[in-house]
Amino acid sequence: MAVQTQWYKDGVFYQIWPRSFKDGNDDGMGDLYGVIEKLDYIKSLNVDGIWFSPLYPSPGADCGYDISDYMDIAAEFGGMEAFKTLLYEAHARGLRIIMDLVVNHTSDEHEWFQKSRQRIDPYTDYYIWRPEKPDGKLPNNWNSMFEGGTAWQWDDVRQEYYLHLFAIKQPDLNMDNPLVREEVKKVLKFWLDQGVDGFREDVITFISKAEGLPNDLPIPGAAGILKYNHGPHIHEYLQEFRRDVLSHYDCMTLAEAPMVSPRKALRYISEKNPKKHDIDMMIQFQCMCADCLFTDYVPLRFSLRRLKRAFRKWQTKLYGRAWNMLYLENHDHPRVISRYGSEKYRTESGKALAVSYLFQQGTPFIYQGQEIGMINWRPESTSMYEDVQTVNQHVNDREKKRLKLYHRASRDSARTPVQWNAGKNAGFSDHEPWFYVNENYQEINVEAEEQDPESLLNFYRKAVALRKSLPVVRDGKYREYRKRSGKLYVYERYMKKRSSNAPDPGRLLVIASFSKKPQEMKLPKGFDAGKANLLLGALSGEQEAGFRETGVLRMPPYGAYVFHFDS
Ligand code: GLC
Repeated sequence: MAVQTQWYKDGVFYQIWPRSFKDGNDDGMGDLYGVIEKLDYIKSLNVDGIWFSPLYPSPGADCGYDISDYMDIAAEFGGMEAFKTLLYEAHARGLRIIMDLVVNHTSDEHEWFQKSRQRIDPYTDYYIWRPEKPDGKLPNNWNSMFEGGTAWQWDDVRQEYYLHLFAIKQPDLNMDNPLVREEVKKVLKFWLDQGVDGFREDVITFISKAEGLPNDLPIPGAAGILKYNHGPHIHEYLQEFRRDVLSHYDCMTLAEAPMVSPRKALRYISEKNPKKHDIDMMIQFQCMCADCLFTDYVPLRFSLRRLKRAFRKWQTKLYGRAWNMLYLENHDHPRVISRYGSEKYRTESGKALAVSYLFQQGTPFIYQGQEIGMINWRPESTSMYEDVQTVNQHVNDREKKRLKLYHRASRDSARTPVQWNAGKNAGFSDHEPWFYVNENYQEINVEAEEQDPESLLNFYRKAVALRKSLPVVRDGKYREYRKRSGKLYVYERYMKKRSSNAPDPGRLLVIASFSKKPQEMKLPKGFDAGKANLLLGALSGEQEAGFRETGVLRMPPYGAYVFHFDS
């Protein structure tokens, strides 16, 4: 058994969605050659590792989340050879590599499925098959999250239904079959032996379905979720993966977990009790629901209070017991500035959002393009959208209404090519890109932000470096001020000295305004403005003089500050 050093607790990760990061061989599709070209850029963000969305061979029904071979790298991304170079080059720069493990389902083009539908052993029971009921009804009332209807698809070859919680081309694996779990372990071992450092585990809390696949409450679009999420054998299966494979490597696991509360998370991540430590971190969705109900397609007005409540719960309830994963963007959600910030105050609100999560306890992830403040894509027709989830939403609504919803909620907004410069195709590729480039690329791009010391990009670099230099960010407790404010987010990180002769870790006070109007705030009791050390954010001479004298911070729209104080 390898010693698990929990190195991820000191790290910050960058997420790459490979199709749209950078095209290195000019065929219009992002690839690993492009990533290799940009490794120094990634390193310059002061991050410690990369999470790759799936790189495996795939027909692309869900942009790689439908895998047809788990033990290879897609030719369009450069194949295994490019991957080995990438791994070597990344490790040489001190960057860890995390793979996406997608084992709730495979592609219907995976060999296992092709054999299963023909009842060729040992694959016959690799998937969840059910015969037609005598009354002609479907096996149960579960919904597909991507198809806008039933989760059951009739297969003419096998003359049975198969379950697909996502797209029709993503049949669910039968994890109750021990042979399937052996396959998963082979996949884990294969990549760990290649030298990867861990896994982000796609909808892993869905892998154990309730016995007998009973009907669920008719939750619109998501019936079934109470029967397959956090199912009866979930801990047992995750423990099995840990015991038989993961614990033999110094690696980390990050589980995607829709509908998880801190209380539930503690059952998966218990740092005190190895028997209850199934995984190392969870991707919770509560911080993604400050402007929507459950999914981005049921929009609500953004509420800072709701966002703060989510942050507070996870920060306080996991403290000392489990480790948080921190994020505001990934490939499944539209751009955060367009959601929680302001496109008008793009850079300012981008900074306010950055300090809001980067100084919490946990391991932060930054999604490609987030660091330059990319915003939502707004095409003129719904026909330009590509994402399997998007195109099946609101199909019965009129074009205008649909378009409005897609502008607001589509995952495609996070999937347009990264904007590297103001040149052809935003510097993403010389060839026509596989997907549209956001029209704002001449204004928003990496090259422009490199040259501006006050850019969001340079702010992210400083913030990440700062975070890593302060032990109180890693280990300190979390306390919030102005909890009820709908405009200001104010939190403190503090801790006791480790020993009497250890240096004072000090206290950190993070202040972010989420208002388009100037705001004022008096420092909370116990913080002396005269002794405040401003580590991040800018104060003009006049602002600073007033602040030092009165303790009142006058902030422009979306002001963002990180102060340090002695304990
Ligand atoms: C996860 C992925 C998402 C994918 C879905 C089905 O939520 O993050 O991109 O579409 O699972 O695999």
